[in-house]
Amino acid sequence: MTSDPVQNERYVIVGRTAAAIQRSVEHGVVTGALRPGDTVPSVRGLATELGVSPSTVAAAYRELRQRGVLVSYDRSRTVIGHRPPLAVRLGPHVPEGAVDLATGNPDPALLPPLHEPLRAVVPSHHRYGDAIADPALIEHARAAYQHDGLPSDHLAVVGGGLDGIERVLEVYLRVGDRIAVEDPGYPGSLDLVRALGLQPVPIPVDPEGMDPDRLAEAIDRGVDAVLYVPRAQNPTGAAMSRERAAAIAAAIAVDPELLVIEDDHAAPIAGVDYHSPMADRERFAVVRSVAKWLGPGLRLAVLSGDEDTVTRVLGRQRLGTGWVSQLLQQLVVRTWQAAEQQGTLDRARDTYQARRAALIDALAAEDLLADASSGLNAWIPVHEEVPVVQGLAELGWAVQAGEPFRVESRPAIRVTVAGLPSERAPDLARDLGHVLDQRLGSRRG
Ligand SMILES: Cc1ncc(COP(=O)(O)O)c(C=O)c1O
Repeated sequence: MTSDPVQNERYVIVGRTAAAIQRSVEHGVVTGALRPGDTVPSVRGLATELGVSPSTVAAAYRELRQRGVLVSYDRSRTVIGHRPPLAVRLGPHVPEGAVDLATGNPDPALLPPLHEPLRAVVPSHHRYGDAIADPALIEHARAAYQHDGLPSDHLAVVGGGLDGIERVLEVYLRVGDRIAVEDPGYPGSLDLVRALGLQPVPIPVDPEGMDPDRLAEAIDRGVDAVLYVPRAQNPTGAAMSRERAAAIAAAIAVDPELLVIEDDHAAPIAGVDYHSPMADRERFAVVRSVAKWLGPGLRLAVLSGDEDTVTRVLGRQRLGTGWVSQLLQQLVVRTWQAAEQQGTLDRARDTYQARRAALIDALAAEDLLADASSGLNAWIPVHEEVPVVQGLAELGWAVQAGEPFRVESRPAIRVTVAGLPSERAPDLARDLGHVLDQRLGSRRG
């Protein structure tokens, strides 16, 4: 995680111009010699090494940072982005035979079967000019939004949660704009924000979600957008209480035009009541991906927003991908309906809840604390992440180091509880206690 490529045998950055240095860094990332999280040399260090002016290296790094290939944590440390926007294989390495508690996936056994819904898809062609949204999908999504007390007059079908977030950001924000994000938060959104050249403004998260006072301060100092997850927050499992939703609603009410995006990525399986600050907003977007509960392979989300936002998103979408395939839309709504009728979503929600509870209890028995009140993940504070991740890997558990999720928040590991059967929770807790004692000499983060 902290290897320095100048001293490290794996890769030496070369180049005499800013463009050549950029290409060299990108080549290192694409070939896997530079890995997400690896530290790159300081500007001065690399300039000396290459015999060029520091301003040449600084220009290369600035461009790479603006595109999200590099991330700077503070003045002293710049690393390869955790999801660099280059064609590389991503995701934490899961050692062979290890229990995968690292990749953030839903449990495949809890996803709805696709055979029947696939058979029910009407295999007809759609043409340019046809309606772009499947009426049954829109009706079903609208009913879900209405049930939750959210506006649903204007909906857009997009290619997943991050696609929806990106489309909304893209039609409002420009390079250099500031966006309040959760810290810790989902690296997919954090790195997307960076890759769009936006500046993340970290807002601390507690078990009830974003800190409303810190959000209010950030809005006061000037942000152009706010992005948060209302429940099943990734990585902490935070879920907004009614009071917190009201406090956030008050904080964002000072500017009715402020763009506020809610990433409700685990809606029916989050396992908590839903409270949202969005009910009466003028400028808003709520994005509901089906990835966590119908399957990550069904690249689809439904976005609800104010009229201006949805009009812009649909108009921009038309210029690019055009629309989401109607065949996929049909499959999604049929799978969704079947999953509701057959109780698949309730089963997934209850099972994840039981797995979270089992892990929290098992950790408590080892005098360890975790945050995990909703969703698929637990967040366990530790002093140092890498030795804990390595120690657990040696004992057959793949978990994630917290760094990609953090901006300023404290070290922790993320455990995807979705993949941990309740009966194995005591084994994991015992092994974690052992690793902490052996490697760090302390159980508390
Ligand atoms: C908070 C959050 N938002 C969005 C996503 C991604 O959603 P999608 O795959 O639909 O882009 C994830 C996936 O882990 C997530 O944790």
